[in-house]
Amino acid sequence: MSFPEVRLRRLRQSPAVRGLVRETSLEPRQLVLPLFVREGIAEPSPIGSMPGVAQHSLDSLRGVATEAAEAGVGGVMLFGVPAVRDAQGSGADDPKGILNVATEVLAAEVGDALVVQTDLCLDEFTDHGHCGVLAADGSVDNDATLERYASMALAQARAGSQLLGLSGMMDGQVAVIRQALDAEGFTDTLLLAYAAKYASAFYGPFREAVDSQLKGDRRTYQLDPGNRREGVREAVVDEQEGADIVMVKPAMAFLDVLREVRDTVDIPVWAYQVSGEYAMIEAAAANGWIDRRASILESLLSIRRAGADVVLSYWATEAARWLRG
Ligand code: PBG
Repeated sequence: MSFPEVRLRRLRQSPAVRGLVRETSLEPRQLVLPLFVREGIAEPSPIGSMPGVAQHSLDSLRGVATEAAEAGVGGVMLFGVPAVRDAQGSGADDPKGILNVATEVLAAEVGDALVVQTDLCLDEFTDHGHCGVLAADGSVDNDATLERYASMALAQARAGSQLLGLSGMMDGQVAVIRQALDAEGFTDTLLLAYAAKYASAFYGPFREAVDSQLKGDRRTYQLDPGNRREGVREAVVDEQEGADIVMVKPAMAFLDVLREVRDTVDIPVWAYQVSGEYAMIEAAAANGWIDRRASILESLLSIRRAGADVVLSYWATEAARWLRG
C-alpha cells in the first residue's frame, strides 16, 4: 500500500480553506443590469419568456435602477422599446425618443451611483427589425448605417449616457462613433464594442422583450457560431479602432472565445449572459430540476473565470444582494 504523494484534497478541506484558495471572485461592481423601457405604458409589462423581467414604464424604471444602485451593481444598460417604428429607425436619435428620454431620467436619478449605459443599435427602432438601414436590394447597408449610428451616439451622449454599447455589428462602427463624439466634445463617453457578437439562438426571449419586428436572421452581420478565430479578430480590430471595452456575447456557449479574447487584448473584456441563458436556468429551476440560486451564482462565476471582467446579467441586482449577504 503506497500513500498518494500529492494530496489535492488538502486545499478543499473546509469552507475557510476553500475561500482562501478560490481563484475567481464575483462582486456586485462586476455586474451590469440590462433594462427595458417601453414608450407609453404606465405599469411594468412582464416578459413571458423571461420570468421576473419586465418592460418598464419611465416610473418603474427609476425604481429598479435605484434598487440596482443600492445593491452595488456597477451599471445599468438601457434598451428602448418605441411605440412607432420606421425604416430609418428615427426614434433612435430623436431627443424625445424613449431611449433618450429614459437615459436623461436615469442619468439624473442614479448617474452618480453607477454607470448609465445605452444600447446603440437600430433594431428596436426599425420597422423591419434589422440592426441597420436597408439598401434598395433589401440588404443591410453598412456605411449608410454608420451615419445613423453616429447621430444616435450624439443623441445618447447628449442625454447623459456615460457608456455606449455598440451592438450592431457594422464594420467601422467604433471608429466612426469615436470620431463623431470627439468632434462634439464628448471625449469622456466610453465605448463598449460588442466585438464578438454571434448570430445566436439564445437571443430568442430578447426578441419578445423588445417586440422585435425581425423576419429572417442577422447572419450577414453577426458572427457564425462556429468561428473562434474570427471572434478574436473582431475584438482586435475594435481595440485598434478605439474601443474602451470589448464584449463577447452570448456568454456560456462562447466561453472559449471569451478566454481567448481576454488573453489577446489589453482592454477590459465583458460578457453578456443573454436572455436565452436566463430563460433556461429559470425554466429548469421552476421545474425543480436545478437549484436556482446555486446555478445562477455558478453561471456568473464561470463567466468570470473564463475571462470576463464584468458580466451583463438580468440577475445582476438579485445576485449582488446575495453576494453582499
Ligand atoms: C440587438 C441586441 C440583441 C440583444 C441585445 N442587443 C438581440 C439580437 O441581436 O437579436 C440580445 C440580448 C439578449 O438576448 O439578452 N441590438
